Amino acid sequence: MKSNPEIILKTQSLAKIVTLEDKQLNLLHDVNLTVTAGQTIAIVGSSGSGKTTLLSILAGLDLPSSGEVYLKNKAMHQLNEEQRSQVRADHVGFIFQQFLLINSLTALENVMLPAELAHNDDAKKLALSLLAQVGLSARVNHFPAQLSGGEQQRVAIARAFITKPDILFADEPTGNLDKQTSEHIADLLFDLNKQFGTTLVLVSHDLTLAQRCQRQVEMRDGKLIDTQSSVKETSVQTEQIA
Ligand SMILES: Nc1ncnc2c1ncn2[C@@H]1O[C@H](COP(=O)(O)OP(=O)(O)OP(=O)(O)O)[C@@H](O)[C@H]1O
Ligand SMILES: [Mg+2]
Repeated sequence: MKSNPEIILKTQSLAKIVTLEDKQLNLLHDVNLTVTAGQTIAIVGSSGSGKTTLLSILAGLDLPSSGEVYLKNKAMHQLNEEQRSQVRADHVGFIFQQFLLINSLTALENVMLPAELAHNDDAKKLALSLLAQVGLSARVNHFPAQLSGGEQQRVAIARAFITKPDILFADEPTGNLDKQTSEHIADLLFDLNKQFGTTLVLVSHDLTLAQRCQRQVEMRDGKLIDTQSSVKETSVQTEQIA
């Protein structure tokens, strides 16, 4: 193992403040987090504590009010939407709780889409192979409305991995699924994480799922608390970040 693992994600004093009816809400406050390449990390915490808000900023979908976010050494907080979109296309995969599949596309077309957008000539081959891996070879021509919730989630997982992202953000990837399906989905996520070396940042209420990650952090009222860590942050050389 390398003594100095690559830092793939780092935040410094991250804050998110929104104004609602003349009142300022501190959704995130002084969030400091360092994630090394290949690490699996779970963000847990009660409803409304700021997990999705944090994930959106970490993934470059939203901007912080103050503080810094570095994703693959890119200063995301200084980039415009177009530049952040490019970083996402190059490095990031997402799995959202609501799957966000495109209803007018089949399972196969949904999975192929990110690879086609990246002009990958092997999109179809890759998509069929990933769909086989998630056990959906018999469902490739089904539209989302013709798939069960668990099946849709498996399509979303296959789609998230098709660009071989360096880092995958998953918000409640097993939310609303029964225990057996949840376990199957989690197995797939961790198998693909190992197979592709993908860094995995997941938000979950499910402590069994969270405990399968190497590290767990907890959001409490917009603050991040490192509850348990197998890689000590102090051992990481922050100078690596330009
Ligand atoms: N745009 C916004 N304007 C005002 N308040 C917001 C906005 N977005 C989120 N919030 C509030 O911020 C808090 C954190 O929301 P967030 O969605 O991050 O919570 P969460 O930890 O993901 O919760 P859950 O587990 O229920 O998904 C909530 O109280 C929410 O109402
Ligand atoms: Mg949420």
